[in-house]
Amino acid sequence: MFSADTLTRFNTIKTPFYYYNLDVLGQTLKQASTSAGKYNYHVHYALKANSNDKVLELMNHYGFGADCVSGGEVQRAVDCNFSSNKIVFAGVGKSDDEINLALANNIFCFNVESVAELKVLNELAVAANKTARIALRINPNVNANTHKYITTGLEENKFGINVWELDGVLNLLNNLSSLEFIGLHFHIGSQITDLSVFKNLCLRVNELNQHLASKRITPKIINVGGGLGINYHEPDSQAIPDFEAYFGLFNQFLEVQPGQEVHFELGRALVAQCGSLITKVLYIKNGIKTNFAIVDAGMNNLIRPALYQAYHKIENLTNLNAAVEKYDVVGPICESSDCFGKAVALPPTVRGHLIAIRSAGAYGEVMASDYNLKPRAEAVYSV
Ligand code: LLP
Repeated sequence: MFSADTLTRFNTIKTPFYYYNLDVLGQTLKQASTSAGKYNYHVHYALKANSNDKVLELMNHYGFGADCVSGGEVQRAVDCNFSSNKIVFAGVGKSDDEINLALANNIFCFNVESVAELKVLNELAVAANKTARIALRINPNVNANTHKYITTGLEENKFGINVWELDGVLNLLNNLSSLEFIGLHFHIGSQITDLSVFKNLCLRVNELNQHLASKRITPKIINVGGGLGINYHEPDSQAIPDFEAYFGLFNQFLEVQPGQEVHFELGRALVAQCGSLITKVLYIKNGIKTNFAIVDAGMNNLIRPALYQAYHKIENLTNLNAAVEKYDVVGPICESSDCFGKAVALPPTVRGHLIAIRSAGAYGEVMASDYNLKPRAEAVYSV
């Protein structure tokens, strides 16, 4: 929902652009930090969802840490003043340069995904005369019931160390003198809306935690990752995800040992609903089944519909009358998959109308490219 003043402002800005409502973002962060705070949970924001400075500034303001998956993200977190003891670094393919950058910045923890990586990290830490704190990313083989491209916690996925490897890895750690084992890390997928999936994760984590306890090992950190989904169909009435239910569920089902801290890595749930991609209709073209509304934003600006068949709500911001016609809303890129929505119900729509593609604050701008040498969409913020 956009105020009349905002719509007037939109008419003065070159399209396409990303619009971020910082009120919605602030309210979301406040709610998330209050709900997590009830249980002393620590939340690291997954920068991969949106790494704009203004977003990071607010994350920092509300006390979130930074969950990074590249040297670029670690550097961005440092530049945006996240304290190094709140920066974690995950990813299956950390390069030597990236590891050295993170070591130089004394980050809180490396989430390590393979034996091969453990050995390289140890060598680089020895050379840098540092001790690297590590959490082992365990693949818990829990099905996230989400799109196959964003499922990460199954044995067939490239992520994490398999459960049956854990004991061997713990033995190996005894010989890697520059690594300090501090935690277990899990992440099973993204856009998870069925909370029972997280209950399954908790039960699996409990088993592993107990297994370690039986060996007198108590990792200080249990990091359960991110993945909480949002309601793409109702960006206004459900702008803020149900953080109470989410954190409450972990409190109910996760059994932690005395002294253990629970960490999360939320991305999408914190930022998706504050952002929209605003685009302008260039042409209306009659099709055989429906008309095409050809807009000036393309899959280079927002790739989620093309890549994951993702649904984003589409609204006409210029004609606010009832939706009585159907359009395939498509971009200008030379690919048939450059389509934001098929048979979208809209009011009569003509050249020059502004269109909002909603819930685009997460994995929107960050996944943009200049394919077809089309320009990137600028970021515009609420004032
Ligand atoms: N932690 C790890 C280790 C991750 O791999 C991810 C996301 C997160 C945390 C944050 O997950 P979130 O809370 O945002 O679900 N581009 C896709 C989503 C890819 C997610 C990758 N990993 C999309 O547009 O749906």
